[in-house]
Amino acid sequence: MFVGASDMHYVTSDGRQVLDATAGLWCVNAGHCRPKITEAIQKQAAELDYAPAFQIGHPKAFELANKLVDIVPEGMDHVFFTNSGSESVETALKIALAYHRVKGDGARFRLIGRERGYHGVNFGGISVGGIVPNRKMFGTLLTGVDHMPHTHLIEKNAFSKGAPEHGAELADELERIVGLHDASTIAAVIVEPVAGSTGVLIPPKGYLQKLRDICTKHGILLIFDEVITGFGRMGTPFAADYYGIIPDIMVTAKGLTNGVIPMGAVFVKSEIYEAFMNGPEHMIEFMHGYTYSGNPMAAAAGLGTLATYKEEGLLTRAAELAPYWEEALHSLADAPYVIDIRNVGLIGAVELEPIAGAPTKRAFAAFREAFDNGLLIRTTGDIIALSPPLIVSKSQIDEIVDGIRAVLNKVD
Ligand SMILES: Cc1ncc(COP(=O)(O)O)c(C=O)c1O
Repeated sequence: MFVGASDMHYVTSDGRQVLDATAGLWCVNAGHCRPKITEAIQKQAAELDYAPAFQIGHPKAFELANKLVDIVPEGMDHVFFTNSGSESVETALKIALAYHRVKGDGARFRLIGRERGYHGVNFGGISVGGIVPNRKMFGTLLTGVDHMPHTHLIEKNAFSKGAPEHGAELADELERIVGLHDASTIAAVIVEPVAGSTGVLIPPKGYLQKLRDICTKHGILLIFDEVITGFGRMGTPFAADYYGIIPDIMVTAKGLTNGVIPMGAVFVKSEIYEAFMNGPEHMIEFMHGYTYSGNPMAAAAGLGTLATYKEEGLLTRAAELAPYWEEALHSLADAPYVIDIRNVGLIGAVELEPIAGAPTKRAFAAFREAFDNGLLIRTTGDIIALSPPLIVSKSQIDEIVDGIRAVLNKVD
């Protein structure tokens, strides 16, 4: 149980400090309980608690939208606010389907995701997602969905520093899927630029560009789910900047408010927004929205967060730390059970050999042991996934790496 937090540390209910190597759940990018964000929320709560999200507005939602448009890749000029990554995903998928329809191309109803993709836990997200336990309990899911293969080629790419060499050709599977269904039936492709939840799968060199090219060629919208890669995690504001590939729709959440108040945002290119803006003034153009879309407290938290990122250069700080992070992490190559190490920006993964017949047991034991030793790591399957707040120091990086080595020396 955590009862407090400050900067890089949590405080447990028994009064121990725990170093946060996971930014909460990939969201506390500026570190914990940062004053600008706390003050913004306190002030907002006393000034304007809530304003209806339909018909009525309030200035901070627009102020935040404008500030966000300044930092997202060029051309992504319009924002739709949600309350989570999952809601952002649903919103993006609905925008994609509706966009083709308002353009008179309503036969484009298919959505393409990827194996081992994670796009939240709502029906659209689990349908395009590729995590079996998240899908198997819930019936037929969305129809008209297909999946590309994942890109985790551990036999060929193990211990790659940064982008793996092998696997760009896996993007050609999209051409095969297009060949199967015909491009005229496909609305959008959704991928995480770096797949986080299934254990940090870094795209092979050239892979994302190939996806972009195939989508462009066939008039298919490319959606980047940047829920974990957004807001400085890669050393650039967004993964789209890091890879130099601009999607048509970008899904965000988490780091948008530093995890403090639930909020998500979906960004679209102007041409997508404009396609909807052709009805009479008194009518709603896109029948979608949430009671809490852009609510004042979340907007205030977002503004406080962006101010903190800007003042402290956090949207690019990971780029300075990335070489140190890479070397530190890869020093674990000779630690017990380690079968792969992966890194990009301030993201890392240490993949462990599973205990035969008991997958996840070893990683879970490592998680428990690390926690008892004052280190918060995250495990998924038998993979330790790391994403410290972007304020982490070099000595804290050493602490994380030394802590993991100590844990691996101890667990069976
Ligand atoms: C890539 C990605 N998309 C969507 C989500 C869902 O976000 P939320 O848990 O805020 O609904 C997550 C959460 O980890 C994520 O990593």
